[in-house]
Amino acid sequence: MTIAIRIRRLRLADYDAMVRLLRLCGLNPRTKGRESRTSIAAQLRTPRNRYLGAFEGARLVGTVFGTHDGRKGWINRLAVHPDYRRRHLARRLVRLCERGLREQGIQVFAALIEPDNVASEAVFRGLGYEIDPMLYARRKIHPGV
Ligand SMILES: CC(C)(COP(=O)(O)OP(=O)(O)OC[C@H]1O[C@@H](n2cnc3c(N)ncnc32)[C@H](O)[C@@H]1OP(=O)(O)O)[C@@H](O)C(=O)NCCC(=O)NCCS
Repeated sequence: MTIAIRIRRLRLADYDAMVRLLRLCGLNPRTKGRESRTSIAAQLRTPRNRYLGAFEGARLVGTVFGTHDGRKGWINRLAVHPDYRRRHLARRLVRLCERGLREQGIQVFAALIEPDNVASEAVFRGLGYEIDPMLYARRKIHPGV
């Protein structure tokens, strides 16, 4: 079923709703680190980023953060409010995010998915992503980041 949802770029005024939504969706926003208000403000000011929100009226019900490093586009923080799932909202968010990155010449898109995240894997697979099991190496300069 298609519902009347508008997708637009996120703004700093959406910050509190965004944090609430990420928490509700189990995505553990790093509000003292890379998802602090200050950090998100800087990310939103970065022209290449495509941080989108899906809204029903004024209510934020979905997010996706698109970034790129000049080589690849990265689809991060894909989240849809539990009451709005299975209505192809994630699909729409990812496709729009890809479009914004494609406009900048990006032709490869990637996402990191936890091994047991069946829903996310299904969304990306359905959008034509190949799924490759991989090890993820990460180093943090300090634990809160
Ligand atoms: C993953 C998530 C964003 C999907 O959002 P969504 O809007 O419900 O997904 P969509 O409706 O666009 O799903 C598109 C297709 O993916 C597949 N899919 C989605 N959720 C699924 C599930 N729980 N189980 C199996 N397949 C699923 C289906 O094929 C679906 O199409 P269909 O409903 O016509 O069968 C949502 O479940 C979520 O927010 N999860 C918690 C946060 C999270 O894990 N984010 C991803 C981090 S990598």
